[in-house]
Amino acid sequence: MDIVVLISGRGSNLQAIARAYSEGKIKGKIKLVISNKEKAKGLKIAREFGIKGEFIDPSAFKNREEYDIHLVERIKKENPDLVVLAGYMRILSDYFIESFEGKLVNIHPSLTPAFKGLKAQKQAIDYGVKFSGCTVHFVTKDLDAGPVIVQAVVPVALEDTEESLTEKILAYEHRVYPQVIKWISEKRVRISGRQVIVEGARYGTLPVNPALEDF
Ligand code: GRF
Repeated sequence: MDIVVLISGRGSNLQAIARAYSEGKIKGKIKLVISNKEKAKGLKIAREFGIKGEFIDPSAFKNREEYDIHLVERIKKENPDLVVLAGYMRILSDYFIESFEGKLVNIHPSLTPAFKGLKAQKQAIDYGVKFSGCTVHFVTKDLDAGPVIVQAVVPVALEDTEESLTEKILAYEHRVYPQVIKWISEKRVRISGRQVIVEGARYGTLPVNPALEDF
């Protein structure tokens, strides 16, 4: 299972995925990490794991389409089985998404379809939900709204802040993302319309109910 990972920043999901590869939990290789930000910490993480990392500068291109054409070409040279978005903070052109249809995944720090877009954790706090979490999904042209592969639920405590919730969700992100890549590598994941079927996966086993005091 060879993958290319796109990042823009911290790279903690990249790190979790790279660790899973280096521990042999996922077979294959992270062939390349691409960042649209020169200073992304994730590029350093790539180096630490001996993974090729490249900064591709958006300002060197006329527009989003031109950038994405270059990106697609660069990614295809690596011939990956899957393209993994891990905190990649640029809107993708339709051309990019079409180029990797069914082979492009993203992680979002909410239970989609709630709180799409930026600052999902803050949106959850501001809204006052009692549960949030993270979602790994296939990428379609609808932002943060592709078919859901897995979701992990995180309870929101009264005292949670954007920062503390982000941290709690992140701990699950680091578990579900490598898991999904492993599932895909084992050819256990099938898309049927909006439904994603993961052969043999156990869903619905977490104790996700609210604390009911009187009943
Ligand atoms: C994560 O919260 C992820 O869900 C979102 O961007 C953040 C990336 O964090 N898409 P990191 O760069 O992997 O640490």
